[in-house]
Amino acid sequence: MTILVTGGAGFIGGNFVLDWVAQSSEPVINLDKLTYAGNLDSLSSLEGNPQHFFVHGDIADTALVKRLLQEHQPRAVINFAAESHVDRSIHGPEDFIQTNIVGTFRLLEEVRAYWKGLQGQAADDFRFLHVSTDEVYGSLAADAPAFTEEHRYEPNSPYSASKAASDHLVRSYHHTYGLPVLTTNCSNNYGPYHFPEKLIPLMIVNALAGKALPVYGDGQQVRDWLYVKDHCSAIRRVLEAGKVGEVYNVGGWNEKPNLEIVERVCTLLDELRPRVDGQSYISQRTFVTDRPGHDRRYAIDARKLERELGWKPAETFETGIRKTVQWYLDNQEWVDNVLSGNYRDWVAQNYEGRAV
Ligand code: NAD
Ligand code: TYD
Repeated sequence: MTILVTGGAGFIGGNFVLDWVAQSSEPVINLDKLTYAGNLDSLSSLEGNPQHFFVHGDIADTALVKRLLQEHQPRAVINFAAESHVDRSIHGPEDFIQTNIVGTFRLLEEVRAYWKGLQGQAADDFRFLHVSTDEVYGSLAADAPAFTEEHRYEPNSPYSASKAASDHLVRSYHHTYGLPVLTTNCSNNYGPYHFPEKLIPLMIVNALAGKALPVYGDGQQVRDWLYVKDHCSAIRRVLEAGKVGEVYNVGGWNEKPNLEIVERVCTLLDELRPRVDGQSYISQRTFVTDRPGHDRRYAIDARKLERELGWKPAETFETGIRKTVQWYLDNQEWVDNVLSGNYRDWVAQNYEGRAV
């Protein structure tokens, strides 16, 4: 038995691969294009481990995907590969269309052909698990109930629109061709190996570097935070026991406004790595121009996953955020390697135009 993971050098895919190898003896083929967000440093502990087989390539490369499927005969494909950052999708949506929509389509086509060729039990047991986001549901009013799986799709950014399109393609491959698919829609993740363009790692990295902590708009936008290892355990559970064709929302019931997140990161850093001048890191907080089309609130209702598959997160926000801040303090080398010229170009592009 083997699984094929796409995007396994990214934040969530990388954590998934590490956890998979730690918890199972089943080999994992890891197909990743190594965009700016893909980082083999995150997988350095697997060097020389025959259970992990890394392949540098694109999910849209039909010939490559076909060959990998034929050679390795996976029992499941788990699709993490995506362009994932909303701000980048605002500056340049093209890559999002290419990978999230065209790439998922090409991957689905090859997986369908492969699955068609499987016989008996192997065909029955095969799964295509598509990893998606709560952002496809759009923005919630302050007092509205959290997103259930029945919530209508109302994506508002090029990122969420491209993910929504990929979800629809996955759904259609089940409905039309019978492909045994599963889809998970998860809330915002945080934890180790998170690229510091996203809120939590950016705040940690900037705070330690003595830089501004840029809060978009009034900082009252609400996100529902889940520790990445809990997302990985949910995916394993859905893969193991999810009902074919079903969608499962994944979340940790941790809704928090951005300002509270920034404050919590600062107080943890004040405790664990106090500034030499004795001031709090919160003094570095800066309000900057808001993101265009900024969704006000996301919240996930994860009761279906708990009720039907018995999944629950292991971490509270408090335990998860402490582990995360400590991880960044302990892994300065990983951070330094990430902060390359490429990263600096992005920071200049995204933050220079924002009035303080
Ligand atoms: P990420 O940006 O950190 O990683 C994406 C990975 O995919 C990178 O390693 C990149 O090199 C790879 N990749 C990009 N284009 C590719 C292509 N064409 N072919 C092969 N590999 C390619 O993203 P992430 O945060 O780890 O998110 C993983 C998945 O989970 C995405 O589908 C995302 O939409 C979804 N998701 C993310 C979050 C979150 O909070 N980060 C929450 C819910 C769902
Ligand atoms: P982000 O981590 O980009 O995730 P998403 O947009 O997918 O939810 O952003 C999380 C929240 O933090 C979002 O409301 C935007 C906000 N944010 C800031 O206020 N400042 C920043 O520098 C960044 C990157 C995000």
